[in-house]
Amino acid sequence: MSDKLRVAVLGATGAVGKEILELLASRNFPLKHLKLLASPKSAGKEIEFGGETLKVEATDSSSFDDIDLVLASAGGSTSRAWASQIVAAGAVMIDNSSAFRMNPEVPLVVPEINPDAAATHQGIIANPNCTTILMGVAIYPLHQLQAIKRIIVATYQSASGAGARAMEEVKLQAEAILQGKKPQPEILPYPLAFNLFPHNSPLNDAGYCEEEMKMVNETRKIFNAPELKVSATCVRVPVLRAHSETINLEFAQPFSIKQARDLIAAAPGVKLVEDWDKNYFPMPIDATGKDDVLVGRIRQDISHPCGLELWLCGDQIRKGAALNAIQIAELLLEKSWLKPSVPSKIA
Ligand code: A2P
Repeated sequence: MSDKLRVAVLGATGAVGKEILELLASRNFPLKHLKLLASPKSAGKEIEFGGETLKVEATDSSSFDDIDLVLASAGGSTSRAWASQIVAAGAVMIDNSSAFRMNPEVPLVVPEINPDAAATHQGIIANPNCTTILMGVAIYPLHQLQAIKRIIVATYQSASGAGARAMEEVKLQAEAILQGKKPQPEILPYPLAFNLFPHNSPLNDAGYCEEEMKMVNETRKIFNAPELKVSATCVRVPVLRAHSETINLEFAQPFSIKQARDLIAAAPGVKLVEDWDKNYFPMPIDATGKDDVLVGRIRQDISHPCGLELWLCGDQIRKGAALNAIQIAELLLEKSWLKPSVPSKIA
């Protein structure tokens, strides 16, 4: 196979799909052909890419013929609907949805953490949940030095996590409120402008929502640490497109703060942002549009001798989704891992 790929972006009109297109162009991804796929309602829509005007196509049974790589970001049901066909057509799907993340046959990959897991793919590689990716790249350098025993995390998740239409809705709600009108939620369950609410994914019997359990289960899978204790509280906040997280880590031994700062400052995909004199630490507006996860406020947990506190902000659409997917694709190319190494049990 030549080094240039025939790529389909499934969900090309969505928030993550658009970012994938921007990254394919800005990172000079080796493209032989680019196909833009979405739902039937977007068929014929025109999107500019690299100086050309491309037409969006409705996804159908012939969409994946002659395609090497599918970058999917069209929701779980769409990924589930087309996965077998994509694999049977001999293409690799890098899937942003949660559909296959916990499938033991499907690697769940963050290139800075577990790149080698991608080598064993059978045609599908899952991109983790955005909050999990952002937390993972920030804390994995510490975990490598001393295994983390327990993570307590709270998230402050932007509207972008609920898609492009949710981002528009927040802007419209803000305008409505400023004009003295009542905001009308349609995509999001409750008004988000000038408000916040606990993540609205389905709750389990223990009282945790699906988003929170993704952080628990996906972190364990990516870190290959099935016993790792994680408790998460996920909250939607009226920020447009970068998530924030406050993270408490417990180790078996005290962790030197200087060492934690040095490790994070040197780690790939992460940037240490701390100005203690000015009380300046990462903010969503600083992380928006950036590749790196911004980390700061690294401090000793005063309630526990082996505890560490930190704060991060990361662009949910970039490293939390599109960028991580593109980095996986680049990894497959660099390592010549595009073709599955074992016959697929998925298709
Ligand atoms: P469309 O714009 O035609 O609805 P977001 O997460 O920002 O809401 O984007 C979701 C993406 O998934 C959009 O590109 C959307 O296309 C696409 N999508 C939704 N349903 C389907 C479907 N049944 N088949 C293909 N693409 C879909």
